[in-house]
Amino acid sequence: MTECPPPKKSPSENLPPANTGVCIAGTGMGLPAKVLTNDDLSKIVDTSDEWIRPRTGITQRYLADRTEHTSDLAAVAVLQAMANAGLEPSDLDLLLCATMTPDLVCPATACRVVDKIGAVPCGAMDLNLACTGFVAALTTASAFISSGHCRHVAVVGADCLSKIVDWEDRTTCILFGDAAGAAIVSRSEDPTQRCLYQRLCSDGSQWESLFVPRSEHDLPPNGQKPFEGKYNTLQMNGREVFKFAVNALRNSVSNALKATNLTAEDIKMVIPHQSNIRMLTTAWKKLGFDDDKIYVNIDRYGNTSAASVALCLHELTEQGRLTPGDYVIFVAQGGGLTWGTSLWRL
Ligand SMILES: CC(C)(COP(=O)(O)OP(=O)(O)OC[C@H]1O[C@@H](n2cnc3c(N)ncnc32)[C@H](O)[C@@H]1OP(=O)(O)O)[C@@H](O)C(=O)NCCC(=O)NCCS
Repeated sequence: MTECPPPKKSPSENLPPANTGVCIAGTGMGLPAKVLTNDDLSKIVDTSDEWIRPRTGITQRYLADRTEHTSDLAAVAVLQAMANAGLEPSDLDLLLCATMTPDLVCPATACRVVDKIGAVPCGAMDLNLACTGFVAALTTASAFISSGHCRHVAVVGADCLSKIVDWEDRTTCILFGDAAGAAIVSRSEDPTQRCLYQRLCSDGSQWESLFVPRSEHDLPPNGQKPFEGKYNTLQMNGREVFKFAVNALRNSVSNALKATNLTAEDIKMVIPHQSNIRMLTTAWKKLGFDDDKIYVNIDRYGNTSAASVALCLHELTEQGRLTPGDYVIFVAQGGGLTWGTSLWRL
């Protein structure tokens, strides 16, 4: 058993000055090697590139193999984010892993990631909010930093949805892909760098819009239509989720702008969960954002659940499109139902 080492600093030194900032110090990503195109999918289920692309925006997705776990992809992403932040594993105070496809029910996937990156005995916690997970974890990390309890928190969104989709159900299996994306959230000397606004919401009364039943005891109450799906696979009411997501996206972003007295012009980028290109374009129409302020990469990865916002953040960072002082909005929605927004000054 590894002994928990003494704190790096005395508790009073851990408390930040009143105006401590919070920054995103590095980002990373982890992908499986295998690519599955829409044409490949058409050999598995009755579908086609012509159907999938215009309705979803997806042209390909990555798939983990049987021996590859969520924690494997997550570890690759966190190691890259730490290298980009110039950190060693021992610098991390906490690792938050957002996932709805943990390696095992127990232990938390975060514990396995901490082990795989050589950061034992760093604190570790999973957050299961489906596609909203990374935004929730980012916000949580910010709170740990600004409270003074942590200096560096690794936040990773990682999912292998391919392990829980029904590969005979063409309405769901075409949508998802496997990936991990990570960010290091750190204390900053610049007090203007921080999360200016966050809002996390849930509506558990709509849980059956997107769920994974283990047995007949997990099904929606009597009176619903007979269960036609398979246990231990993702069940989704695509149309209901679509309507919910468009409203959630639109309201979340508009509330964030109102609360911070910012306008669409002030925002450098909106970094949304990549669920469906039609959803995104429908939601943005009324918000007044130019198209080039909405980051989209769903064509290459599909919906990667908790990883999706993190992948976008990493790509934007690698492309040099984000600079200190920029305002960015992270926004996501998913199973639960859950939805969340986090507006940062980088
Ligand atoms: C899943 C989704 C793409 C389906 O699009 P849609 O336009 O609502 O399609 P429908 O489910 O109404 O199906 C329309 C027809 O296409 C068929 N169809 C469904 N999936 C198909 C596929 N992959 N290939 C070919 N045909 C398909 C249906 O069987 C139906 O045929 P019918 O009219 O003969 O019955 C869309 O509802 C969606 O994106 N929903 C949100 C899902 C999501 O993002 N979930 C995660 C949230 S974080």
